[in-house]
Amino acid sequence: MKIITGNDGHEYLFRKLEMNDKEMLSDYFIALSAETKSRFGPHPLTDEFATHLCSKTEDSADRFVIVPKNEAKIVGYFIVGFELSPHEKSRYLSQGIMLEQGLDVLFAPSVADDYQNCGLASQVMPAILFHARQKGARSLVLMGGTQATNSRAIAFYEKFGFVKFGGYQTEVFNHDMRLTF
Ligand SMILES: CC(C)(COP(=O)(O)OP(=O)(O)OC[C@H]1O[C@@H](n2cnc3c(N)ncnc32)[C@H](O)[C@@H]1OP(=O)(O)O)[C@@H](O)C(=O)NCCC(=O)NCCS
Repeated sequence: MKIITGNDGHEYLFRKLEMNDKEMLSDYFIALSAETKSRFGPHPLTDEFATHLCSKTEDSADRFVIVPKNEAKIVGYFIVGFELSPHEKSRYLSQGIMLEQGLDVLFAPSVADDYQNCGLASQVMPAILFHARQKGARSLVLMGGTQATNSRAIAFYEKFGFVKFGGYQTEVFNHDMRLTF
């Protein structure tokens, strides 16, 4: 667990997702705006999925949350995933990079709409990078890449050393980005 101070001067806890976070996680998913959901969609953002995540005894990902020190709510949710998908592998392979399970670790960050751009993700990033390295990661790979129009996310990733690696087209163009340790 780590205590951080946002640009708003308030203190927050950064910690692993816990089983009794079910209701807070559900509220967090449901309250995300359509815009944030259009940028962050690693899995269904529903009450059912929050229940599923908080009742898992085994998980292929480590999940972290940011919680205000004096309030029972989640304002940030971060996934560090250890199971590469065939889609990610093939996209990187087309760039000449062979991702390897256990070495190349997926990453997906999100912050609640009212708390975005307050420095929260930047403050927890060193702890996330440290955690990934401790788990043996040689790189962090953005889960699904990031939309080319998501200027804030791209600036945030580049600040921490992520580099663009090609991309792919859905309704929009998505940059693949990877940070190599
Ligand atoms: C992307 C996200 C995780 C970043 O978390 P955050 O807590 O808002 O980020 P921070 O406040 O720590 O940092 C944002 C940085 O982007 C910069 N920034 C903000 N808007 C920007 C813009 N339009 N263009 C360029 N840079 C921008 C900020 O200045 C800040 O950089 P700085 O610290 O050097 O000043 C968060 O905004 C979020 O959840 N967005 C919606 C979901 C999403 O896009 N998830 C990622 C999917 S790939």
